[in-house]
Amino acid sequence: MDNELPASSRLFERARAVTPAGVNSPVRAFGAVGGHPRFIREASGAWLADVDGNSYVDLVGSWGPMLLGHAHPEVVDAVRHAAGRGTSFGMPSEPEVALAEEIVQRTPVDQVRLVSSGTEATMSAIRLARGCTGRDVVVKFAGCYHGHVDSLLAESGSGVATFGLPGTPGVPDEFTAKTLVLAYNDRAAVQAAFAEHGDRIACVITEAAAGNMGVVPPHPGFNRFLAETCARHGALFISDEVMTGFRVSAHGHWGLDGEPEGWRPDLMTFGKVMGGGFPAAAFGGREDLMAQLAPAGRVYQAGTLSGNPVAATAGLTTLRLATPEVYAQLDKSSAQLQELVAAELGRVGVPHVVQGAGNLFSVFFTEDGSGLTSVQDFDQARQQASYRYRAFFHAMLAAGVHLPPSGFEGWFLSAAHDDAAISRVADALGPAAQAAAAAGS
Ligand SMILES: Cc1ncc(COP(=O)(O)O)c(C=O)c1O
Repeated sequence: MDNELPASSRLFERARAVTPAGVNSPVRAFGAVGGHPRFIREASGAWLADVDGNSYVDLVGSWGPMLLGHAHPEVVDAVRHAAGRGTSFGMPSEPEVALAEEIVQRTPVDQVRLVSSGTEATMSAIRLARGCTGRDVVVKFAGCYHGHVDSLLAESGSGVATFGLPGTPGVPDEFTAKTLVLAYNDRAAVQAAFAEHGDRIACVITEAAAGNMGVVPPHPGFNRFLAETCARHGALFISDEVMTGFRVSAHGHWGLDGEPEGWRPDLMTFGKVMGGGFPAAAFGGREDLMAQLAPAGRVYQAGTLSGNPVAATAGLTTLRLATPEVYAQLDKSSAQLQELVAAELGRVGVPHVVQGAGNLFSVFFTEDGSGLTSVQDFDQARQQASYRYRAFFHAMLAAGVHLPPSGFEGWFLSAAHDDAAISRVADALGPAAQAAAAAGS
């Protein structure tokens, strides 16, 4: 092995020998932007340090969980204490009860069950919806990603979109045949689907605000429309807040201003922030539905590490530290950053759309001449000049700002993104915008 190579490159070589493409989750591989991933040695607040001693402002935030920034001293302290008392019992413990109480108190669910990943949460919610309704068809929206659940990978966002995969081998046709994929924000398509298949539809699942095709907020009232349409047809409405939950507000997307009162999803899924950087997620909903889960009910669902005491402590501590000031700070720095990006891209004439749902936002490098001023669905999200994002991404990286290595992802800020972090990003933006402008397809 060549010791002249940077430490990140050497680690990547080692990783590729023992792990497919050298990564444990596809978008980490830099496949969409070229080059190889940086291996992170440590992180603190808004900053990452890689194994070669480079520092970056982190705008990935572990893809959402790091609401308070990395290695928040109180979270680290709580985790140390929890780990010292034992890392897993396989029996009930207090932290999992307290975390469930915190989630129930902040969201419109009556009960939750804790699991270990967002994928497990959506998979379990769908099983429950099918079990409760006795129906099999699931409606999802193109560009929404709900984890790598077999039946939900059709026309999915995140890595599936990044790599342009229509679906994935390994999922039997019979599974995807029970998934109806509709255009996001398209009420007429939803009505048509229910008109044709209404008595077979178990549930509609949607991201509370789409964040995996870039950030595409729902049209005002769209989620409520979905819930009401489901109710009229005896189907269940699942709102996936794995990404938005406890991030865009203390109550998730549900709590954003303008979310209509007087209705609620039948089931919801949570993850990311609620685990405080540990593998923890949850699904929850109406009590009568949750009562159908084993052992009270007949719908089976289980997990060796579900409600793990260390993960639950990390999540609970994070949620308790997520005060209104934290959200105010996040909203402020997010607005600031969105303005800066739009200004720099505008200055050099690169066509783009910057849009968000609360403090979660993304930047679409739209194709020349597309004329897009906003992105409403996956078809529009796919009209991206990815060669421009690639150039922009690498210029930002070279200037010490780590963006998501794909134009189909949101940019994640934390409450630790202070003036120093924002000014590093601001300094990087001008040259990166020029690199994007100069990029050729
Ligand atoms: C909205 C949404 N649902 C589900 C998932 C899957 O979560 P996990 O990666 O923890 O399995 C994700 C992951 O990005 C997500 O963004």
